[in-house]
Amino acid sequence: MEDIRIKSKADYQAAYQESVDHPEQFWAKIADTFDWKKPYDKVLEWEFETPDIKWFQGGQINMAENCLDRYLETQPDKTAILWEPNDPNDDNIAWSYKELHHRVCKFANVLKANGIEKGDRVCIYMPMVPHLAVALLACTRIGAIHSVVFAGFSAQSLADRINDSSCKIVLTTDGSFRGNKEIDIKGIVDEGVSKTSSVEKVIVLKRTEKFINMKEGRDVWWDDEMEKVDANCPAEPMDAEDPLFILYTSGSTGKPKGVVHTTAGYMVSTYYTFLNVFQYEDEDVYWCTADIGWITGHSYIVYGPLLAGATTLMFEGIPTWPDAGRFWAIVDKYQVNQLYTAPTAIRSLMANGLEPVARYSLNSLKVIGSVGEPINEEAWKWYHTYIGKGKCPLVDTWWQTENGSILISPIPHVTDIRPMYATNPLPGVQPIILDKDGNEITEPHEEGLLCMKFPWPSIVRTLYGDHDRMRNTYFSTFKGYYFSGDAAKRDNKGRYRIIGRVDDVINVSGHRLGTAELEDAINEHPWVVESAVVGFPHDIKGQGIYAYIITERDIDSQQAFKDEINETVRKEIGPIAKPDIIQVVPGLPKTRSGKIMRRILRKIAEGDISTLGDTSTLLNPDIVDDIVEEATTVN
Ligand code: WT7
Repeated sequence: MEDIRIKSKADYQAAYQESVDHPEQFWAKIADTFDWKKPYDKVLEWEFETPDIKWFQGGQINMAENCLDRYLETQPDKTAILWEPNDPNDDNIAWSYKELHHRVCKFANVLKANGIEKGDRVCIYMPMVPHLAVALLACTRIGAIHSVVFAGFSAQSLADRINDSSCKIVLTTDGSFRGNKEIDIKGIVDEGVSKTSSVEKVIVLKRTEKFINMKEGRDVWWDDEMEKVDANCPAEPMDAEDPLFILYTSGSTGKPKGVVHTTAGYMVSTYYTFLNVFQYEDEDVYWCTADIGWITGHSYIVYGPLLAGATTLMFEGIPTWPDAGRFWAIVDKYQVNQLYTAPTAIRSLMANGLEPVARYSLNSLKVIGSVGEPINEEAWKWYHTYIGKGKCPLVDTWWQTENGSILISPIPHVTDIRPMYATNPLPGVQPIILDKDGNEITEPHEEGLLCMKFPWPSIVRTLYGDHDRMRNTYFSTFKGYYFSGDAAKRDNKGRYRIIGRVDDVINVSGHRLGTAELEDAINEHPWVVESAVVGFPHDIKGQGIYAYIITERDIDSQQAFKDEINETVRKEIGPIAKPDIIQVVPGLPKTRSGKIMRRILRKIAEGDISTLGDTSTLLNPDIVDDIVEEATTVN
């Protein structure tokens, strides 16, 4: 295993060079550290036109087996999952590799007993309990395809996702605890499932013990089912390119897309990047604060760490409860060595001052990480100075749901760190910056569109049920390249800085939301004629949501109307999508062909009305003044 770890600048340079000159040889070396059920015939076959990308063809392998079984002999008693409950006074959990293996095998048998076979889709709507990790691993053990839906999404969003991939079963809990709130998870599932026709069973884990309705013939209790099965469950041999999971994410248009990741390539990439980006060593305790409902949780709470035989910590609660020192209390309690979190969490904790930090030592930390959105200079410095004590390398990791694993990031103590720069591509990653005509930008400091020239093992393979959309979204903007949707630039040492999305995707607290999806939700309100949503800079969330709405009638109470819009969005998507600012407008600026000029709306939302540009070509130029007059300025 040692030779796949990058320990020096020379290692990095050698690995990078090999990954470009001999990509197949480079990735095979990593793949060969796994237990294969059947060796692969060919490392890579690809083209970016269709696109058609295949890694490790002919090989058969199982994810759960490589996460668990192969550690049963070497480290059965090492803690695999540590779990810190919402309430710090409640008991925590530590499951060893042996115990996790036992639970996964049993739950895999529960799935089978409830009619799940290889290739079936399993929807998972659960809060951050350790059984959530068991659920993922049990699916992959038997070759069922999981589709985790973040348990903050609404019943409608859940139903849409279940329907898109015809899930046969839903795994959930009675309720959940988040800070001082208790959430009716099962109620949301009942409402969601009522809008679907493919779901045959719902398996319910007890968490809050509150009374819930169990639907006869459909709903069963997790614990009861576990009693009925044994722990003997051989891992299913999966073809390298068999789908591993689906994860829905927002795009600039239409409904969320079901990003499909396949088995072997995803394993190779998450394992390799976990080891190197976090410089994980044997006795370390690693903590990623994301929710498993997002790709960060899939790749860097569950799969990457367990493939590497690590101890991974899961936290059920929120950073600010019981107080703003909770994260730091957890770091000290478990002596966390690597902490991976999001800029939005850092900014909200920063706003609470240094007192909650000063109560803790944080001495165990060796590496600190950031993911999900650009980290601004102030947050970077605060995180580095007060949490990393100036001594822990801060890895600003850039990647996307579609990438499966980190693509651009510093390697601690090996490559450079530069505030606000994701810095260098990891070995195997070949970025290129293009101008809007598709010409390469080589000049330093010149902004362009971030693309990839060559596939890495965990690249998205398709969008569930819609390969045309896969091609159109990522491979049609520039022929022969994967287009990320982000703008970026390089400094004179070739280090990358990510600027942000160039499409109609808003990044709110690290959560991706499409403007079209937000507008569709707002338009569900009966009084809304038309709406336009844009992002604006927000101190804590990174970006906030600004909604311009044309109503059918005069609004008597603006506040009551805004509350209703918020409620509509909460119902359609979930609380994370509620607009920060709602402005009722008499019209929207449109081009002569009827397209909304979002550029102008964005400027107004940013409070930057001095540079609105030429509005004379608009169909309705006067509307701009009306909107500006009534705008809620944020700056
Ligand atoms: C978008 C992907 C997979 C990470 C979790 C979010 C933005 C992500 C960074 C970073 C600047 C970043 C990009 C990207 N993003 N990491 N380190 N610096 N921007 O995954 O929901 O698929 O969102 O998040 O805009 O395109 P996601």
